[in-house]
Amino acid sequence: MTPKLLILGGTTEASMLARAVADQGLDAVYSYAGRVATPKAQPLPTRVGGFGGVDGLIHYLGEHNISHVVDATHPFAAQMSWNAYHACDQAGVSLVALSRPAWQAQAGDQWRHVEDVEGAVAALAGPAKRVLLALGKQNVPAFAAQPQHHYVLRLVDDPDAPPAVPNHTVVVSRGPFDVAGDRALMERYGVEVVVCKNSGGVGAEAKLTAARELGLPVVMIDRAPLPPRKEMATAGAVLDWIRA
Ligand SMILES: NC(=O)c1ccc[n+]([C@@H]2O[C@H](COP(=O)([O-])OP(=O)(O)OC[C@H]3O[C@@H](n4cnc5c(N)ncnc54)[C@H](OP(=O)(O)O)[C@@H]3O)[C@@H](O)[C@H]2O)c1
Repeated sequence: MTPKLLILGGTTEASMLARAVADQGLDAVYSYAGRVATPKAQPLPTRVGGFGGVDGLIHYLGEHNISHVVDATHPFAAQMSWNAYHACDQAGVSLVALSRPAWQAQAGDQWRHVEDVEGAVAALAGPAKRVLLALGKQNVPAFAAQPQHHYVLRLVDDPDAPPAVPNHTVVVSRGPFDVAGDRALMERYGVEVVVCKNSGGVGAEAKLTAARELGLPVVMIDRAPLPPRKEMATAGAVLDWIRA
C-alpha cells in the first residue's frame, strides 16, 4: 500500500519535514491548527483547523486513508499530541513524533524553572520591570495579574484586541530568530527579564543566547508530560520510518 502521511505542524521542524517529504514526492497533507492569520505556505496540500477531538481525528484518518501520522507540533501543544496518540491507537494508524529535545541551561544562564504559565506569572511578583514575553498571544492575559511590569510582547500577528496587560509594547515578528536580532530587541526595549517556554529546537533558541550574553534572567516554563509515542529527532529518520 502506498503510504499517505498526515503532518501535524505549526513548527519550524514541521516545515523542514514538509520540504523533505515534498522533495521525495510522498503523498502527504500538512495540518495547521489555524492560530496564525497567515500561516507559512507549505510545499504540500494543507488543511487548517481542529479535527474535532479524538473522534474527529479518527474520522479524518479514515476518510483520507492516512497510513502514517507525524506529530511535529510544538511540545506545548500537548492536547493535540494526546489526541493524536489516542486516535492513531484506536484507528490502527502508525504514529511518530518529530521531537525537539528540551533546552538545557549552560554556564552563564540564570534560569528560574516554573511548571506552567501560572508559575511564570507568580515568579514575576515584585517591583516593576521590563519583561519580554516570548509566548503566544493566548498566554498574555494571565500576566494581567502582575500589571506593574512593562511587557514587550513578541507576537506572530498584530493583536486583534488590545492586549490584557496595561503597559506593553507589541513587536510583530515571526521566527526563526537569530542572536543578533534578539539581542538588539532586548537592548532596544531595555528588557530586564525574559519569560519563555522550554520549546527546544532551533527556531527560538536565539533569545536564550542573547539573554546569556546580556546577563538577563529567564523564567523558563517547563514542559508538561507528553504521550509515550515513538520519537525521532530528524526529518531523515522520519522518511526512513515511512519507507520501512
Ligand atoms: N503551544 C505553543 O506554545 C505553540 C507554540 C508554537 C506553535 N504552536 C503550534 O500552534 C498550534 C496550536 O497549538 P496549541 O498549543 O493551541 O495546541 P493544543 O492546545 O495542543 O491543541 C488544542 C486543539 O487545537 C487543535 N490543533 C492543535 N494543533 C493542530 C494542528 N497542527 N492541526 C489541526 N488542529 C490542531 C486541536 O483541535 P481538535 O481537538 O478540534 O482537533 C487541538 O485539540 C499547533 O499546531 C502547534 O504546533 C504552539
